[in-house]
Amino acid sequence: MSPRFGMIAACLWFLGAASAQGAVADVGGARIIAADKEPQNWMTVGRTYGEGRFSPLAAINDRNVGRLGLAWYLDLDTKLGSETTPLVVDGVMYTVGAWNVIYALDAKTGRLLWRYDPKSRHDWLRYMCCGPASRGLAVWKGRVIAATIDGRLFAVDAATGKPLWDVRTTDPNKPYSITGAPRVVRGLVVIGNAGGEFGVRGYVSAYAATSGKLKWRFYTVPGNPAKGFESKAMAMAAKTWHGKWWRSGGGGPAWDAFSYDPDLDLLYVGTGNGNAWSRDLRSPGGGDNLFLCSIVALRADTGRYVWHYQEVPGENWDYDCVQQMTLADIKIGGVERKVLMQASKDGFFYVLDRTNGKLLSAQPFVHTTWASRIDMKTGRPVENEQNLYTDKQAKVVSPSPFGAHNWQPMSYDPLTRLVYFPAQESGWAYSRTTTFDYHPMAWNISQNPKAKRPPASANVPATGFTLAWDPAANKEAWRIPHGGPWNGGVLTTAGNLLIEGTQGGEFVAYRASNGDKLWHMHIGTGAVAGPISYSVDGEQYIAVSAGWAGSLPIIGGGIAAIHDTPTRLLVFKLGGGETLPQTPRRVIAPPPPSNASAAEIARGEAAYNKTCRICHGGDLVSSGMIPDLRFMSAATHAEFDSIVLGGARADRGMASFADSVSAPDVEAIHAYIISVAKREQGRVFGSDRIQESGSK
Ligand code: HEC
Repeated sequence: MSPRFGMIAACLWFLGAASAQGAVADVGGARIIAADKEPQNWMTVGRTYGEGRFSPLAAINDRNVGRLGLAWYLDLDTKLGSETTPLVVDGVMYTVGAWNVIYALDAKTGRLLWRYDPKSRHDWLRYMCCGPASRGLAVWKGRVIAATIDGRLFAVDAATGKPLWDVRTTDPNKPYSITGAPRVVRGLVVIGNAGGEFGVRGYVSAYAATSGKLKWRFYTVPGNPAKGFESKAMAMAAKTWHGKWWRSGGGGPAWDAFSYDPDLDLLYVGTGNGNAWSRDLRSPGGGDNLFLCSIVALRADTGRYVWHYQEVPGENWDYDCVQQMTLADIKIGGVERKVLMQASKDGFFYVLDRTNGKLLSAQPFVHTTWASRIDMKTGRPVENEQNLYTDKQAKVVSPSPFGAHNWQPMSYDPLTRLVYFPAQESGWAYSRTTTFDYHPMAWNISQNPKAKRPPASANVPATGFTLAWDPAANKEAWRIPHGGPWNGGVLTTAGNLLIEGTQGGEFVAYRASNGDKLWHMHIGTGAVAGPISYSVDGEQYIAVSAGWAGSLPIIGGGIAAIHDTPTRLLVFKLGGGETLPQTPRRVIAPPPPSNASAAEIARGEAAYNKTCRICHGGDLVSSGMIPDLRFMSAATHAEFDSIVLGGARADRGMASFADSVSAPDVEAIHAYIISVAKREQGRVFGSDRIQESGSK
């Protein structure tokens, strides 16, 4: 840019900012519906109401992407990862970091315009399965709207970051959390919640975007019939439940995807798994347990039920049907159909007629052993009876609770007519306890460690790949194999590009038509969130909020390349020359001495697995998001008790566990960590390949 032009641009920016009070991010429904007319912007989390995640921009394309480089980056002051899709409106980027802190940035330079910390409760992490993530935010008529992990929804002025309204959407005495992004349809902010494993009753709420006033609420599972039903839909759903399911909430939270068809005026909601996981414990006597693991269509203005399709009747395996629901008009058998597509956690790719919920096709995209197929006449799965687990016998079933595909965004490219998403093969040894012993505010999955385990040969090694799926032909077109599971969300562009972070810590551009690898850069961590593309002053950018996130890297840290890289917003352009700092290496230091017995160490390992593993990782290996306890400093070793029992780091997400672990158990856990650190001392943590890039 010439200095003169730069000055003019700066003046225009200044004038724009000065005159724009109220006009900044002036996004309404008409603009989102016509999103293709402004490809420079990314105005809602899926770019369009149909959640296609395809950018019509083509200045960066399969011929020149080899020249892609870093334009700018922003460290988000955390290692807790990111699941966020940033938004860009008229040259300003809005994004959300850990603990729901909102940033407004100059999308061209990364200059901070404002930052707003909603002061979410950090110790609430204890009531979340998978990190304090947020999958994004919404903009609406001069407001930026987002939720907090502990259940609030708030709006700030898009020009200044000054708070406008702030409401509670959940009962603070129940273990609800929010990780999903709000969508705004017809002036209403739609928001769900999470907490299935802890025991909540799922629902979706809609608030006026202008005032934060509650307009409607749709429960996804019925409550106690003695208290009466909120709607006819709940009376209908209650007929499919037995026992006293409401005591543990039942589950079914809408924790991720929504999509909206403005012509049909239908809002689509994906619902989660049941609590407990086992249907025998949850609803003794059977039943479909509506609306667990379903796609439900609601009237956007009122939240009135219109239709539903339940993918997993009597959900029994922690299958959530909250994965992205992408709307498209596709020719199937010569007839143009209005479809809704979902690559479900349960391993089937579903195509529904979105006008009425009728199933058009459902094919497995991975090895599925819970059901052999979906019966097209009834729309119901044909379950494999021999794989049903009990309290006495555990069974390995595929996919696992991590899913054949999880929340990582998928993309539909209308030019290749293919859907792309990260898929994975996995299995899990499911079992159940004899009776359901529900503990409020605690992890309640009722797996039975005493059940007979299947032989090791029944295990399914976890693998990961990106699938290009042909939804019209209802089959896989091709795949890109990766080093392991939990690869990143996908963006496609009109430049024939498929953009994705991989499990190996690379950010990659492939050719969308055939999967050829065209460019990559090592970023020192996973980029699992959905990338976006936008342009400012005619120059195209690609952005991703990078940092390992989600259940699998947290619980199974070993699958994530071990790193110590901060969570970062990375923005790329052709010829970008910015450089990333290298991550300082850390080494497992010799731990303090311990004379614990082997029996005490074993007790510590068991106690660790029961309470700590879910965040600090299996076998004490962490993805780096939450500290890897083998790498504790001498000072942290000395503080161990005050951290674990005294809550010394509660404001940083490590709450006190004094209510669930005894002091002798904490000592045993410490002894276990010391024994592993001693064995592994000298091991290095970190990547020395950051920024290495190339065309293969
Ligand atoms: C809900 C998630 C979660 C659980 C469960 C959890 N932790 Fe933590 N823990 C964290 C987070 C987040 C931090 C990082 C806090 C910070 O930034 O200092 C942390 C930090 C720590 C630290 C400090 C480590 C260091 O090197 O700075 C110790 C020690 C620790 N945890 C021990 C435990 C033990 C022991 C348990 C089980 C009794 C446990 N944690 C369970 C989330 C968790």
